[in-house]
Amino acid sequence: MDRSLVQRLTSGEGWGLLQSLPPYDARSALSLGARLRDAGFAPDLIAAALTQSELRARAADKLGPSAAEMLLTRDGLEQATRRTVADSHAARFVDAGVRQVHDLGCGIGSDAMAFAAAGLQVDAIDADDVTAAIAAVNLRPWERARAEQGRAEDVTLPRGEAARTTGVWLDPARRTPGVADVNGRTRRLFRLDELSPSWQTVRDLAGRVPAAGAKLSPGFPHAQVPPDAEAEWTSYDGEVVECALWWGSLVRRTGRSARVLGARVDTTVHESDAADADPTLAELDRMNPYLYEPDRAIIRAGLVGALTNAVDGRELSPGLGYVNAARDVRLPWARRYAITDVIPFNVKGLRALLRDRDAGRVTIKKRGVTIDADQLRRQLRLTGNQEVTIVLTRLRQTQVALVVTPF
Ligand SMILES: C[S@@+](CC[C@H](N)C(=O)[O-])C[C@H]1O[C@@H](n2cnc3c(N)ncnc32)[C@H](O)[C@@H]1O
Repeated sequence: MDRSLVQRLTSGEGWGLLQSLPPYDARSALSLGARLRDAGFAPDLIAAALTQSELRARAADKLGPSAAEMLLTRDGLEQATRRTVADSHAARFVDAGVRQVHDLGCGIGSDAMAFAAAGLQVDAIDADDVTAAIAAVNLRPWERARAEQGRAEDVTLPRGEAARTTGVWLDPARRTPGVADVNGRTRRLFRLDELSPSWQTVRDLAGRVPAAGAKLSPGFPHAQVPPDAEAEWTSYDGEVVECALWWGSLVRRTGRSARVLGARVDTTVHESDAADADPTLAELDRMNPYLYEPDRAIIRAGLVGALTNAVDGRELSPGLGYVNAARDVRLPWARRYAITDVIPFNVKGLRALLRDRDAGRVTIKKRGVTIDADQLRRQLRLTGNQEVTIVLTRLRQTQVALVVTPF
């Protein structure tokens, strides 16, 4: 989409057409297009409107009800912050007393919209002309929010008294486009030297205002967390979506933290919760009855120690995440399993064990091992009646299989 099409699509006839489209249905898109051509609409406008309709339908889960009013691009949607997460970014700025946010690389404006909806003044820029124009459209409902083309490197930030309530938000793009995965989605490769604006620019800008935040990849290296910042790994419904860095008045506690978000959960675990965790590993011949698996944000943040502390347990292998314990503790950020069997992993031994358990269908969870689950399923040739869950992982250096029951 070029700038003139954005203009046509968002004013007069084009906006009317877009808002009048029925809920997107791929099966009727062709006939709808034909009807609109018969009605006299220009083919490029129809194509653009139908694309928007499709993208809005696709965005509904990620961006919530606002998606139905937004202008979107495929890339912009892919890179946009999930609205629930964007709302939590905005809440941090509001809680810190910030009144005006400079969003420097706003994309289609998901974060910027959350800032505006939280009552903040928003000055958003994006290096890409068309993307900035789209963000400007998406920010139309808020009088005190605007977006225009510009580069983070060239921004003029307020100084002195005016800067007191100013914050900066950065969500850098990857300079080299990622590689498409099997689902056609851009694979999120992360290298600090591939960010745009650069990592150096992010840090410079963060140092120029009393409140700054940046959204980085979940792969952000722990060693790079600035000593005066808070690094917050966030998951949504179990998928780690970002590592946000917070500086200045946005810091709640310096160091690493994990935020576990979802439809029914919002909880934070901090580095201090993992302090003095028992480093002793579990032992194969002295396993306790429960296995715990923390949310992935906890693992990415390097806070498995918080789990061993919470359940008085021991890790199976350092950093993998599985913890064995004698205590039955319910945590909103970890799954619990009752362990029925543990054996050193080999196909023959596992087949015998599972046949003994009358296993038919098997759910395979694996971490820290390079076993092909589908191939293993075929090799097991199970014909029983029970559904079982097995965990394939490492206990110290040994590959093990655990038969478990989630509860
Ligand atoms: C990950 S997206 C932002 C997504 C946004 N936070 C959202 O929730 O919709 C990053 C954006 O930064 C823009 N960008 C890249 N380099 C930039 C720079 N040097 N200055 C300003 N914007 C830049 C890209 O064009 C892209 O739209």
